[in-house]
Amino acid sequence: MDTVAELNRISASRIHNAYWNITEAVDSDGKMFKAMKNQLLGIINDIIEKKRSKKLNQTNDDPEDFLSTLLETPNLSDDLIRDTLIMLLFASRDTTQNALVWSLSELNQKPDWIGKMREEWSIQGQEGSLARYSDLQRFPIHLAVLYETLRLWPVIPKNARIATIDTVLPAIPEAKLPAVKVDKGDYVFWSDYSMMRNTKVTFHPKYGIWGETAESFDPAHHLSPTGDFMRSPQPKFHGFGAGPRACPGAQLASYQFIAIWASLLSSFNIMPVEQKERYPTDGLTMMMEGTFMVKIAFIK
Ligand code: HEM
Repeated sequence: MDTVAELNRISASRIHNAYWNITEAVDSDGKMFKAMKNQLLGIINDIIEKKRSKKLNQTNDDPEDFLSTLLETPNLSDDLIRDTLIMLLFASRDTTQNALVWSLSELNQKPDWIGKMREEWSIQGQEGSLARYSDLQRFPIHLAVLYETLRLWPVIPKNARIATIDTVLPAIPEAKLPAVKVDKGDYVFWSDYSMMRNTKVTFHPKYGIWGETAESFDPAHHLSPTGDFMRSPQPKFHGFGAGPRACPGAQLASYQFIAIWASLLSSFNIMPVEQKERYPTDGLTMMMEGTFMVKIAFIK
């Protein structure tokens, strides 16, 4: 966890600093990054080796998993398997965990939504079983809570791309934003965190962001008047990215969110030990600063 958190912090600082490879040569971050990267590679290589030797000796009593599939795939190099696992560590574990933590923090300020989630599960869920993957659309309240959490706490709060061609970003007259010329090689930076909380840009069906209520947590932003879940078009909602690099795990993440919250909230009350404002760290993903201790009580 410490290794991932440190890599996360240093990677995020590189987004702001075009000269990071020069500054890191003189400050301690460069050395730290190398050490942490080697440590992480060591952990991942160890996981791969253990799985491989269990498979070879046919003592593999672990369930078949994604790593088993990678190891059985012909012509996959060890480097590719390792990089795939590292990518999943950041792209799937960190993101889902952060979405759960921030939703808990928000839900505790708006407990009526916890009540609505429980009610939805009591109507839609099946006693003693997990939600089914095919049932996602039957949980509009849970989906709205996830999307609202990601709107305020996007798991990738800031991001960047290097332009591969010359282009022009179109003007948005409704928001008084002029066209912007982008040259091949330009570094384009954006922040979902700032965009989706912006109260100044008023609502526009195509470009408008979230208008006057942008800063408050209200899952109703994603529900129609009849209570159906409304998936806002990109780029209005950008929590799972957009275009060819959009998140391929969005559906799985939604399912995990529903399955985890439905099974926990139906049996437990989960309350933060300390009621205080929470802040993110300056990381590549939206990690919460400090510890977030909770009290868990069984609902009789
Ligand atoms: C709440 C959970 C999640 C959120 C909010 C989320 C969000 C995102 C976002 C915003 C991107 C685009 C990053 C960019 O444009 O640079 C992305 C990419 C990606 N996500 Fe997710 N993600 C989540 C969960 C998952 C899960 C569970 C998986 C896999 C099991 C996953 C796999 C990936 C992969 C592989 C990419 C890279 C796609 C590419 O570059 O072609 N994500 N995710």
